[in-house]
Amino acid sequence: MTPTPTKPRLLTGDRPTGRLHLGHYVGSLANRVRLQHQYESFFIIADLHTLTTKPEPQYIKEIPTFIRETVLDYLAIGIDPEISTIFVQSAIPETYQLNLLFEMLVTVPRLERMPTLKDMARDAHMDTMPFGLLGYPVLQAVDILLPRAQVVPVGRDNQSHVELAREMARRFNNLYGDVFPEPDSIIGDVPLLVGTDGQSKMSKSLGNAIYLSDDAATVMEKVRNMYTDPKRLRATDPGTVEGNPVFIYHDAFNPNRAEVDDLKARYRAGQVGDVEVKTKLAAAINAFLEPFRERRAYYLAHPTIPQDVLANGIRKMQAEAKETMELVRAATGLSYTLDLFADEVDLFGEYDG
Ligand code: TRP
Repeated sequence: MTPTPTKPRLLTGDRPTGRLHLGHYVGSLANRVRLQHQYESFFIIADLHTLTTKPEPQYIKEIPTFIRETVLDYLAIGIDPEISTIFVQSAIPETYQLNLLFEMLVTVPRLERMPTLKDMARDAHMDTMPFGLLGYPVLQAVDILLPRAQVVPVGRDNQSHVELAREMARRFNNLYGDVFPEPDSIIGDVPLLVGTDGQSKMSKSLGNAIYLSDDAATVMEKVRNMYTDPKRLRATDPGTVEGNPVFIYHDAFNPNRAEVDDLKARYRAGQVGDVEVKTKLAAAINAFLEPFRERRAYYLAHPTIPQDVLANGIRKMQAEAKETMELVRAATGLSYTLDLFADEVDLFGEYDG
């Protein structure tokens, strides 16, 4: 029998900040569902990262609900728990341990140059940055390297973080010996999905999102209120299709090409009303979301399943993290025994975190 070759490892994930929406799906989730068959995949729900901008207890209180929603969304879109690992960052104590060691491998000016951090500080209305926010990409490097992941599918906004993880892996290996792979990012080359209001990005904070868990009536209502061509006042006015959110969504979610082409032609010619374009769009998005809704409803009706998925994922990642930390201790020399006493004391012997 030929042994099954082990697949290369993948890690990616999300901060638990709410339900996932169509923008997430197009930008990254669809890609993950595909990639899980090629890679041994780890999906992290990065709760500790939310503390970098929201450390207050009222935000921490919301985290469990958001973790639950994220797990349900992952399962609903087709992340397969039989082959993939879903876990919560804070359930892995080694995250904190490796983070401290990694803090020594990067300079403050290198972190200060990361453009993403300035944006995050600005969005959080912070005029100076907490130490932990400066360390955001260091913690992300820990997430990636703790299971020794080789590939990291992320959006363009996170590419610089994966680059830093590469640098940190290289630096660690140069100092202490080869422990970590240098991870590559996989950038999904899709443009950001516009919001229902026509703003450049679909996002929870802008209130312009259609959620994967929205019911049919909610989708209908959101589509009915969607922004279209602002210069078109009547159904008989010729309209612009390019850059028009309604048609961007038709292109993304309506598999009936003939219908989309017909609507575009008539829209350009001033021969179709918004109501028809939007009714057909809502129907297409609802058909697209229906399998997700069914799976979500199934897991909600059988809550011990998602609960076990998460518990098993956490156990699996805990075992990986332990293994990695043993390699790290051996490589760094942070595994000393003391013979100052009558018996040798193995400082780590009792440890089983
Ligand atoms: N930084 C990611 C975000 O923008 C979340 C995240 C945390 C992550 N750790 C990760 C992504 C590791 C990929 C790999 O929300």
